[in-house]
Amino acid sequence: MRTIIEPFRVKVVEPIKMTTRAERDAFLTEVGYNLFLLKAENVIIDLLTDSGTAAMSSEQWAAINRGDESYAGSSSFYRFEQSVRDIFGLKHVIPTHQGRAAERILFSVLTKTGQIIPNNTHFDTTRANIEYVGAEAVDLPIPEFYEPASFHPFKGNMDVDALEQLISRVGPGRIPLVMLTVTSNSGGGQPVSMANIRAVKGVCSRYGVPLYLDACRFAENAYFIKLRESGYLQKSVKEIAQEMFSLADGCTMSAKKNGLANIGGFLCTNDDFLAQQEKDLLILTEGFPTYGGLAGRDLDAIAVGLQEVVQEDYLEYRFASISYLGKNISSAGVPIVEPPGGHAIYIDAKAMLPQIPSSQFPGQALAVELYREAGIRSCEIGSVMRRASDNNDEAPNTMELVRLAIPHRVYTQSHIDYVIEAILEVYNRRESIRGYCITHQPPFLRHFSARFAPYNESQPVRPFAACGNSALIA
Ligand SMILES: Cc1ncc(COP(=O)(O)O)c(C=O)c1O
Repeated sequence: MRTIIEPFRVKVVEPIKMTTRAERDAFLTEVGYNLFLLKAENVIIDLLTDSGTAAMSSEQWAAINRGDESYAGSSSFYRFEQSVRDIFGLKHVIPTHQGRAAERILFSVLTKTGQIIPNNTHFDTTRANIEYVGAEAVDLPIPEFYEPASFHPFKGNMDVDALEQLISRVGPGRIPLVMLTVTSNSGGGQPVSMANIRAVKGVCSRYGVPLYLDACRFAENAYFIKLRESGYLQKSVKEIAQEMFSLADGCTMSAKKNGLANIGGFLCTNDDFLAQQEKDLLILTEGFPTYGGLAGRDLDAIAVGLQEVVQEDYLEYRFASISYLGKNISSAGVPIVEPPGGHAIYIDAKAMLPQIPSSQFPGQALAVELYREAGIRSCEIGSVMRRASDNNDEAPNTMELVRLAIPHRVYTQSHIDYVIEAILEVYNRRESIRGYCITHQPPFLRHFSARFAPYNESQPVRPFAACGNSALIA
């Protein structure tokens, strides 16, 4: 059969409340045009994130009922540990309440002020946790990463020469670890090839620096390797994932993505000494090492989810559905990050709305219009999210993207068709869309709570800053 169907049936349904355009206009004004501040019940299709939004399977719900809530040594932990070890193969498995907790513990223990952590592309929380301990987060993607329209099968790859130059310039003593984010969330859900992981590992080994994977979307990355890298077609996704992790000395993981769970994460390492320090810190801030801030039932849901996410029928359907969305909008002219990523489609708002300069947030303007048009919530990944630094609003961003992240097993084909129709409606009236300016912003991670107002031609606007002459409220 040519038609690829959802490889699951619906057992429980959650009604979607339909809203009118007039209602959505009012909600937008109420929340200062920040989609994070909308009530979820007022969203028709929620593509804000694939994180923690998965629909759990009947097996996961069954596992939840098996959850052992003993404070120490629960059987849930041992099922969780076995499932993680089966795929990740790393010696110490330390549960945490989500990915950023694993990052905080790793960088608190392994990193000192003035050190540098290279990555293909750091996710925001990774960068923030590195900067919090006084170290520097450096992105070293290949040049194609910055060209949304360019086709490269492994656009998430690290620039290996740049890594080598960095280490030899600053010395390995300043680099406590190298990270690879698989897939790269910050730039289109693009994968990293096995050859690249191997080459990065080669450089790390030469300098005695450990390699860590930010493994949130490891299964999607492994499936891309199967489809695109020669020699992997006959291997199972699980075998490919096992090979990826065999090259790593440790990993951080948010189980809210490819763990198919609504909460949870973990930190792995092969280093006994480091593991002990990490567990000591875990006890202080997350919980005992056999639960790490999670309920036993959460550990069981993750144990099952990790095994379900490497099933190829599932990944084939997921990729087919996401690339169907990408192809249907790009063939009508909508510029997207090519090729489609493993968990999301990223629209290039800078190319779609050339009349809006970065200083007036084209990504935000597009995200607002998708909500206004059809109640679709997406996420700006551009100058709102990535201001150059918390003290510098003036530097422009290279990419102005809108991410449509597809939650796992939540929406059907007709939901995707609805999204396509809405995007094309907005695309057809793109020339009339105008930018925004900021009326309020917090000192950091401003995208979560900033408030905006439509840009008004008659008011002077400081680049990347406040509407009119008003000072930003920190
Ligand atoms: C690549 C990547 N790393 C780390 C994280 C942080 O995970 P969490 O949201 O569970 O803290 C995310 C979350 O989106 C991510 O996409």
